[in-house]
Amino acid sequence: MNQPFIVTKEHRRFTEFANAVRKEKTIGICHGDAGVGKTNSARRYANWDALEPYINKWGPRGEHDAKHYALANRSRTVFYTPEVLCRPKDLMHDIDRWQAKVEICADEHLRSRETEPTTTPIGMSHLVDLLIIDEAERLTPTALELLRDRHDREHLSMILIGMPGIDQRFRHYPQLYSRLGFSHHYRTLGREELLFVLDRHWKHLGQQLDPEDFTDAQAIAAIERITRGNFRLLERLFPQIARVLKINGLETITDDVIEAAASILVIGN
Ligand SMILES: Nc1ncnc2c1ncn2[C@@H]1O[C@H](COP(=O)(O)OP(=O)(O)OP(=O)(O)O)[C@@H](O)[C@H]1O
Ligand SMILES: [Mg+2]
Repeated sequence: MNQPFIVTKEHRRFTEFANAVRKEKTIGICHGDAGVGKTNSARRYANWDALEPYINKWGPRGEHDAKHYALANRSRTVFYTPEVLCRPKDLMHDIDRWQAKVEICADEHLRSRETEPTTTPIGMSHLVDLLIIDEAERLTPTALELLRDRHDREHLSMILIGMPGIDQRFRHYPQLYSRLGFSHHYRTLGREELLFVLDRHWKHLGQQLDPEDFTDAQAIAAIERITRGNFRLLERLFPQIARVLKINGLETITDDVIEAAASILVIGN
């Protein structure tokens, strides 16, 4: 969880997809297996790790305001995760609130850049042009209908993120389905990127990864087989690897160490 964000190929693909949805003012679906990095990519795209706590706090003006205003202006996106069993009315109310606050921030940024101070509003209501909804499986048919209506009225672009099969679920709502512009499959890490991530983990454990080395090559193969390039599985595996090394007084990460670490987790293969 504390690993710094890695700009993977999948993240770049997500960014392209989101930009396209925005440009076409349409609704897009992003689907992919659990733990591949969908939420992380979307939050990053929306600058949400910085904006969410700032907006939640919404306190008196401070010295970090300008930075957040600029971030809001750059992303002009609201990232929202519906609660389980959320009521459609509450959902729309929440979205309105986030949208308004991001718009206020973006507006402040635009104002600060004007040479002549002005009191006329800069058309705040259109500053946010993308809404990303994570865990979109939680949306009820009524919520989907309300969102579609919002899209029609305000031309607000939307991305709905969910598990594989969510695109099929939306087939049952012809009005929404007919408005879908793009469907994006978020994939697992490719081999090159897996090696890049593993290299970081190896270093973190005080070791040097060499894919040409027989022991390392076997370890990499074991990790590839166990995690199948899934970010979350990788993240859960490495603390266990560190633990197995420590308990057994070992230094080298071998495939046996990895198998032992994986056996503690319920991730199977
Ligand atoms: N680009 C990245 N750089 C570093 N770590 C990442 C990255 N993407 C994902 N992770 C890590 O992998 C884990 C899973 O990512 P994330 O929660 O985004 O997956 P998800 O696809 O949204 O899963 P779910 O379908 O279960 O919601 C997270 O704990 C996150 O820290
Ligand atoms: Mg997620």
